[in-house]
Parts: sequence; structure tokens; C-alpha cells
Amino acid sequence: MSNDKKTKPIPSHVAIIMDGNGRWAKKQNKERFFGHQAGAESARVITETAAEIGIEYLTLYAFSKENWRRPKQEVYSLMNLLINAVNDNLETLIQKNIKVLIIGDMQTLPDDVRTAVEKTITSTAKNTGLTLIIALNYSSRWEITNAVQKIAEKIQNKQLKPDDISEKIISQHLNTKDIPDPDLLIRTSGEYRISNFLLWQLSYSELYFTNTLWPDFRRQQFLNAIDDYRNRERRFGKTSEQLKQTNLNN
Ligand code: FPP
Repeated sequence: MSNDKKTKPIPSHVAIIMDGNGRWAKKQNKERFFGHQAGAESARVITETAAEIGIEYLTLYAFSKENWRRPKQEVYSLMNLLINAVNDNLETLIQKNIKVLIIGDMQTLPDDVRTAVEKTITSTAKNTGLTLIIALNYSSRWEITNAVQKIAEKIQNKQLKPDDISEKIISQHLNTKDIPDPDLLIRTSGEYRISNFLLWQLSYSELYFTNTLWPDFRRQQFLNAIDDYRNRERRFGKTSEQLKQTNLNN
């Protein structure tokens, strides 16, 4: 990575839409599952790299609520892959001080998947290094709808008044409560969409799109994305000149 003094620090929170497993497999005349298996290995490598370089939060979009529409066999094998990924890597996660959280609808997950992820969450709860957030059975509109329902209930029970509703209150009712917004979103495979992922939380995030398919996205590709981010300017609605002035005053 570049050590240029003018570059920003590494992002504290990186979110990734891991896309392109199916196309990667097809290019090799293999079944889609083969691509997902290679994709799970990329997820492992990127998690270890993120922990190693000091990223605090890494969110991986593993399965969306819309993904249930895929062929039954593919859904089944993805679920199995997830169970194996969390079970096989549990020792490493503990050893590398990685804490695992899930955002998404845990209640409608198959029992065996829920059991495996709950075990991982409990076993890593005290870890203080990287927080790995797996977006599983997740969709942003579902999350926002739930937040609105919870807030409405509180208003009905007189725990809140309509005037109390602020951006902070909304954030606190999302699944990502207590997790800072992503600084950087990466999407692989040349697709330029957000796909119902962290719509509220990505408001000010830098977006990085790459044509690389997820199974080919490994350590070096991740470091390139971080380097690209570090060379960007974040303005939060201000002008470049205002930011330069602030920097001069600091
Ligand atoms: C998108 O590729 C990928 C997925 C829907 C699944 C991602 C899941 C993993 C990599 C499993 C492991 C994850 C963890 C966190 C252990 P696609 O099938 O949409 O590819 P295509 O667009 O080329 O068809």
C-alpha cells in the first residue's frame, strides 16, 4: 500500500457485495456450486486480510432475502456451504480474535443454519479484533420496514413522540445498531448496483466497483481497493475548498 502522507487512513468499515461466483464457474464449464465454493475461500482470505491490516468492521453480503428465488438445489447448497464455512473456521476466528455478528432475518433461517451461526456468534462474542458482520437472509428494505414498525410500536406505547424521531433514532432501530456506517462499499463482477444492501448506511460511503469476479478477488485485489479508497477525498456535502480550509486549520 502507498505511504503517501496525503492519503487517508484505511477504512474502518468495509462492506462487500460478493458477486460473480456463477459466472466464474460457467467460464470453466463447472456447476454454479463450484463458484460458490471458491467464493467462500475468497471470503475467508478477505476476512483474514482485513483482520491483519487493522480494519475494524467487515460486512459480507452472503445471502439476500431475494436469493430464496434461486433454484432449490442452489439455495440448499449455499446454506450447507455457510454451515461448513462457520463450523470449519470457528477455531481460526477465535484464534485471530475475530468477532462474528449476523444482520438479517435469523427467524426464518433453516434450523441447522441458525444453530451453526448462533454458536459462532456466542463463541466469538468476547473477541476484540475485527468484527465480521455476515449479512444473511438480509435485505435493506426489510430492515428499514422492521425499524419503522418498532418505532411505531414505541409511539403507540408512548415510549417515543413523533418529534423524537431523528436519524439517530432510526439508526438505533436498524440491525446495524452500534456499528458505524461503512466507509467503503466494494462490489465485484462488473455490476453497478446496490441491490437492497445497507441503503440507509451507505449514504456517504465511497463506492468501488471492479470487474473481477468474486472467486478471483483475493488479498491483492482487496489491497488495491483499499489503496483506491485512501486516495479519494470525502466531502460530506462540503466543497473541496472548505475541506482544504478545515485541513489547514487542524
Ligand atoms: C453471488 O454470486 C454470490 C452469492 C449469492 C453467494 C455468496 C456466498 C458465498 C461466497 C458463500 C460464503 C460466504 C461466507 C460469508 C462464508 P452469483 O451466484 O450471483 O454469481 P453470478 O452473478 O455470476 O451468477
